[in-house]
Amino acid sequence: DETVEARINRLCATVPDYPKPGITFRDLTPVFADGATLRAVVDALIEPFEGQFDAVAGVEARGFLLAAAAAYASGTGVITVRKAGKLPRAVYTESYDLEYGKAALELHQDDIPAGCRVLILDDVLATGGTLAAASRLFARAEVNVAGYGVVLELGELHGRAALAGHRVRSLVRL
Ligand code: PRP
Ligand code: MG
Repeated sequence: DETVEARINRLCATVPDYPKPGITFRDLTPVFADGATLRAVVDALIEPFEGQFDAVAGVEARGFLLAAAAAYASGTGVITVRKAGKLPRAVYTESYDLEYGKAALELHQDDIPAGCRVLILDDVLATGGTLAAASRLFARAEVNVAGYGVVLELGELHGRAALAGHRVRSLVRL
């Protein structure tokens, strides 16, 4: 049987000079589009954290796909960490630097009760700025981070260092 890592390596598309010259974009849409691979990815992301989380958070946009599936599979709720300006009620806001650009993430202040344990999922870990900002949002909500899960980790950007203190599960490291 093909491992989840082999499935991701086979299906992930590499796009040179996107969205800017010099950036190599890793496109996981074919990974999500393959049914057996999507299931294997979601199962592998949850597995090390079994019994350790009460909710799954996904970071807009591609993290939503993983978080909803993981929450459904584990019987928890799903929490949306959104790009600034998208959530209608009272939010926490944290800004961060991207591999290309600057942005802010928001979390509804009352979407998840204080004291809960949240597993945070995203598609790619690059500099770690995105997941670190998500983590700060949950800290402000007094929610405990159970850990992080990503499909792809771009190791040379050292994103893991930005997430020190919590387990990071990555399925493929490039
Ligand atoms: C990409 C990717 C991760 C983030 C990783 O998202 O989906 O969320 O960058 O980069 P970092 O570790 O350097 O922060 P992007 O902001 O491009 O938006 P999208 O998911 O909405 O397409
Ligand atoms: Mg993203």
